[in-house]
Amino acid sequence: MNKRVKTEVLIINSKKPDDVIIERASSLIRSGEIVAFPTETVYGLGANALDPLAISKIYQIKGRPSDNPLIVHIGDLNMLSGLISTISPREMRMIKKFWPGPITLIFKKSKSVPKITTGGLGTVAVRMPRNKIALALIKRSGLPIAAPSANLSGKPSPTNASHVKEDLDGKVKLILDGGRTEIGIESTVIDMTPRIPVILRPGGISKERIEDEIGEVRFHDTLLGIRSKSKKINKSPGMKYRHYSPNARVVIVEGSKTRAEEKIIELTKKLKDDGKRVSIMTASRSLKPNADSVQFLGNNLDTIARNLFANLRKADKDHIDVIVVQGINYNNTGFAIMNRLKKAADQIIKV
Ligand code: TXA
Ligand code: MG
Repeated sequence: MNKRVKTEVLIINSKKPDDVIIERASSLIRSGEIVAFPTETVYGLGANALDPLAISKIYQIKGRPSDNPLIVHIGDLNMLSGLISTISPREMRMIKKFWPGPITLIFKKSKSVPKITTGGLGTVAVRMPRNKIALALIKRSGLPIAAPSANLSGKPSPTNASHVKEDLDGKVKLILDGGRTEIGIESTVIDMTPRIPVILRPGGISKERIEDEIGEVRFHDTLLGIRSKSKKINKSPGMKYRHYSPNARVVIVEGSKTRAEEKIIELTKKLKDDGKRVSIMTASRSLKPNADSVQFLGNNLDTIARNLFANLRKADKDHIDVIVVQGINYNNTGFAIMNRLKKAADQIIKV
């Protein structure tokens, strides 16, 4: 067992990050320690991407399988050139359009990136976040920072500092509390190395927006529910693990509005009769089930994304046994939202 450390939480202004706090956090990163910090998507658990020992601590703290690679966060384009071997005009277009921002690009890696950072792969995932605290931390450290989401492996990603504390108290020295994250779901991950780039994880930037910039890209088969016979199915090793799961059981009901709502009412009644505590998550104002709580998901996709993980965590605080979610439309960010919900789900009912 590892020794518990005292976890310090420092509140920091996300518009104008305090220099003294940034220097404290950067010196921890430079000395091979771990710091949790906000990005515009979710909170990250950061360490020097070039230091294998520091990176091994991240895997250990999260309980993350060692073949699940990390995203390397950079503060400027000079940092990128040390991490990758070549760059194509198409990759440059993506960078110019979307960085800093919620999209991670996969490149062939250079020798200076340790294998442990990339889970043994010959590629490296890189992103330039647009949160000012994250950027200041990377720049002041003078190092690329590898950071997975700052949750325990399998739990919903943290969108505020108290989520990080819930999962990692006693395991990290410092959490920078920059408030609630802006986007709420993780970055889009796109492999730029094939002839047609492949989205491995839908996220903050939609397929439609990427295609407007560079033409055809595709979703990885597993995202479309297609099972591949090939062992290469796990292109993004993160795909094979259950994710985002609260302690409560998650059931998704998908279908036309009327039928889905009828089904949810019926299911809620049955679960209540069985003595379960039930929470409903829905973006519909008309659904009025007799549940222990009804969590309204939001009026638009941005709001739904922003609150999604906090809603899942809240159900656990309320000792809910079963969360019944009404599926939403798959357009744009809806696809990324449904991807997270499906990964969290124990059961999907189509009506
Ligand atoms: O928004 C985000 O991306 C957040 C913030 C902190 O930046 N980070 C994040 O990291 O979500 P993580 O570790 O929770 O998810 C990284 C995903 C995993 O699914 C991993 O398998 C995939 O990116 N990935 C990383 N490197 C890869 C590589 N070289 N090839 C394929 N997939 C890779
Ligand atoms: Mg994660």
